[in-house]
Amino acid sequence: MADMSELLELARRASEASYSPYSHFRVGAALLCKDGTVITGTNVENRSYGLTNCAERSAIFSAISAGINEFQAIAVYTPDSAAAVAPCGACRQVLSEFVKADFPVTFAGREQRVDSTLGELYPFDSLQDLKNGSIG
Ligand code: THU
Repeated sequence: MADMSELLELARRASEASYSPYSHFRVGAALLCKDGTVITGTNVENRSYGLTNCAERSAIFSAISAGINEFQAIAVYTPDSAAAVAPCGACRQVLSEFVKADFPVTFAGREQRVDSTLGELYPFDSLQDLKNGSIG
């Protein structure tokens, strides 16, 4: 079982590296891999706003680039909101490429923490449904 509090602390530390001069909204993600390693990521913005990469995708792309593609859990933290901020739709879609519906996703701000799963955040996922034979 993943220690989500520990993973959130690693996400908090990752948020300190955020490059977010446009939104001033720092986010960190910590991705626990099946082999026990943790790969972190942060949001990287650009003056062409649409090119911004979220913390979650930064972590996932780093892991895949390092040859790791099996994951146990992800934690996402922002120090710039009291409320927990959930992963965006694009990050949910990217996560769904690599993990199943029961994958734990914890997200937190300074005063709120939500423990969820990818299936809750991203239901009716055709890729996973195709894999488990429930459609197609
Ligand atoms: N952001 C993330 O990195 N992850 C999230 O889950 C929500 C939003 C970033 C994108 C942008 O750099 C900033 O937060 C404001 O939206």
